[in-house]
Amino acid sequence: MGDPWQECMEDCVEVAKQAGKIIREALEGDITVMHKSSQVDLVTETDQRVEKLIISSIKAKFPTHSFIGEESVAAGASSVLTDDPTWIIDPIDGTTNFVHRFPFVSVSIGFTVKKEIIFGVVYSCIEDKMYTARIGKGAFCNGVPIKVSGQEDLNRSLVLTEVGFKNDPQRFETLMANLRRIISIPVHGIRSPGSAAVNMCMVASGSADAYYHMGIHCWDMAGGAAVVTEAGGVVVDISGGPFDLMSRRLIAASSRAVAERLASYITEFPVGRDDADGS
Ligand code: IPD
Ligand code: CA
Repeated sequence: MGDPWQECMEDCVEVAKQAGKIIREALEGDITVMHKSSQVDLVTETDQRVEKLIISSIKAKFPTHSFIGEESVAAGASSVLTDDPTWIIDPIDGTTNFVHRFPFVSVSIGFTVKKEIIFGVVYSCIEDKMYTARIGKGAFCNGVPIKVSGQEDLNRSLVLTEVGFKNDPQRFETLMANLRRIISIPVHGIRSPGSAAVNMCMVASGSADAYYHMGIHCWDMAGGAAVVTEAGGVVVDISGGPFDLMSRRLIAASSRAVAERLASYITEFPVGRDDADGS
């Protein structure tokens, strides 16, 4: 039997390309910034427009499929993952970068069936890098196979994470204490590119060795998780245990040794779940 999801993946790449073009064009003009949950949770008309485009073009071809999209969820849609074929969409991952024209901005789409990731597409649209991964069939950037660095030693690793304002002082303290502990291991360095999906693709293509984060969402992780895994890396929970797409936590790394050792330096703080309103 052929690959039943191949057509979905091809359509996904096409729509990600169209979305990327809209985002690049929007960077040429004025960007009006709106706020969601806080002063630093930004959204623009382009985030909303791109999500509508992605969902409407996929729905037209696959009317029975389900969708979890960042901006639809912000507008009140459910983010409970079911067994249905489901497209998990971040129309702009790196909205703050987009607003500031900082050049890591991606369209991230993951596709799940029975809650398992089947493929991921991340289009880093300013760099014009199209990352694709179909589970069991490898990971690619612009059609060229990619693989992780294979680094096994955390001391020699370049580690990515994101550091942002936290309303809760306790969470902020823990975030900073984790950062301090990891810098002091020491590792080769810490970087914050500003798009979770791009961060994962950097690990997948060997430009970084690990990425950790608590507080992101399934739409930030779904596409990139497929790319890392298919590039020979590992994606685990922040504790080092099995990855859970709805948990809002992850470590992506070049090897299990790096992921597990990194996990041992991280103190957790509660972040809730994406599906907290349902299952
Ligand atoms: C954000 C980016 C960023 C991460 C934030 C995410 P968004 O996604 O992935 O790297 O630090 O936690 O919310 O809001 O730009 O789609
Ligand atoms: Ca987004």
